[in-house]
Amino acid sequence: MRILSGIQPSGKLHIGNFFGAMRQHLQLQAEHSCFYFIADYHALTSNPRPTEVRENTIDVAIDYMALGLDTEKTVFWRQSDVSEVTELTWLLSCVTPMGLLQRCTSYKDKVAQGLSPNHGLFAYPVLQAADILIYNSDLVPVGADQKQHIEVTRDIAGRFNNTYGEVFTIPQDYIIESVAVVPGIDGQKMSKSYGNTIEIFEPRESVRKKIMKIVTDSTPVEEPKDPDKCNVFALLRLVASKDELAEWENKYRSGGMGYGEAKKRLAELIIEHFEPYRQKRADLENNIDKVKEVLANGAERAKAVAVETLTKAREAVGLGA
Ligand code: ADP
Ligand code: TRP
Repeated sequence: MRILSGIQPSGKLHIGNFFGAMRQHLQLQAEHSCFYFIADYHALTSNPRPTEVRENTIDVAIDYMALGLDTEKTVFWRQSDVSEVTELTWLLSCVTPMGLLQRCTSYKDKVAQGLSPNHGLFAYPVLQAADILIYNSDLVPVGADQKQHIEVTRDIAGRFNNTYGEVFTIPQDYIIESVAVVPGIDGQKMSKSYGNTIEIFEPRESVRKKIMKIVTDSTPVEEPKDPDKCNVFALLRLVASKDELAEWENKYRSGGMGYGEAKKRLAELIIEHFEPYRQKRADLENNIDKVKEVLANGAERAKAVAVETLTKAREAVGLGA
């Protein structure tokens, strides 16, 4: 079973990314052949600042490696190092109806957020389909927000196969539903674009400060509180043991507890959770050559698969000899 997923290098990774996607990516490595890449071509659809794109790419690589990416087993590379994927994007574009892309909500959402609608942003799902199909992926673990893109991929692959014969494996989505949306410190979905994140490797003092700022309601200390409506409790669910969580639930419901108390403990638990990986991250930061070597090696392994699929697709559509 081949598992494939991509993550955009769009800024510092946060605990929403970790609990919503990365943790599952890392767990899947034990039992499957995993292909993970950093989607830098995709980042160009919304970031025209070259230094940032380059730095973010290395930053994401370091985070994944520090958190336990198995660089021997898992194929891990930078998307743009296998440029075959852009040629496949063109072949797929020619069987992709405009209407299919016009229906994509992520494009509409990004434009609504104020991003200027360039063609790359519109065609983004076709590049994503090429990513998935060129590596013969069976399963694509993504957050619920990406489900539509996997459906588009299946549709495009089906159309190509119907027109030109069976070239592509039709992938399944694998929606990561093990955690609900992780809230940010303002209570909205935690997201780089909302400036409400707690970064995975943020300095400890800054984690404490941000957590003390988490928005809560104004229920007085002595009164009972509803854990299911509290942003602090939602984050405690991710890092507290079952027993400890039950104790906090009890404290919330009985009253006599202030949110400040829960926040202090939350900060310590989050810091503890990522503590074991900080040193590894610092070592990698001081050895960027090693990180680049891992990406180059991954690109070589990924390219071997990509060239084979692209050759089949080119032949199928009538290009070349
Ligand atoms: P951001 O919104 O910060 O730009 P991305 O869209 O790059 O994050 O998301 C990368 C991955 O992390 C996706 O698979 C997405 O589903 C997951 N993810 C992002 N934010 C959250 C969140 N707040 N809760 C759960 N999962 C999230
Ligand atoms: N669009 C995905 C996101 O923003 C990233 C991505 C690009 C991806 N290509 C992919 C995810 C292929 C899965 C498979 O999260």
